[in-house]
Amino acid sequence: MIAVGCDHAGYELKQEVISHLTEKGYEIMDLGCNGESCDYPIIAKAVAENILNKKCDKGILICGTGIGMSIAANKIHGIRAALCSDYFSAKYTRLHNDANVMCIGARTIGVGLALELADVFLETEFEGGRHQRRLDLIHEIENNN
Ligand code: RB5
Repeated sequence: MIAVGCDHAGYELKQEVISHLTEKGYEIMDLGCNGESCDYPIIAKAVAENILNKKCDKGILICGTGIGMSIAANKIHGIRAALCSDYFSAKYTRLHNDANVMCIGARTIGVGLALELADVFLETEFEGGRHQRRLDLIHEIENNN
């Protein structure tokens, strides 16, 4: 199950992402918004919670720039949210960071690229090995702060 959320700036792109992923066979948990003006931290928190409680495997968050969503999501321990606007980053944040949330900006990239980023983000597995040691260090930072 993939959690998807947006604010008003990301609503149209969220609908595109959801229909694309649904067509590809993914199950989607749509956590809003539904186009109305809303505050992105509330949506980021809802997506994060559904990943941490294991109802969802990964999440995609969309706002105007993707920045607000990524700042908010990364405040939650256990969430590794990557703001992506290029293919390489979307792939390597899975391989090296085991990112569990990808944030995208509806006002910064087009629909075609956004769908490509969603595909590669969801299809790429974490490499583990030396990268796990680095994630362990991130958990240590979370636990000490
Ligand atoms: C909303 O206008 C905008 O501030 C929001 O979508 C996002 O870009 C914040 O980072």
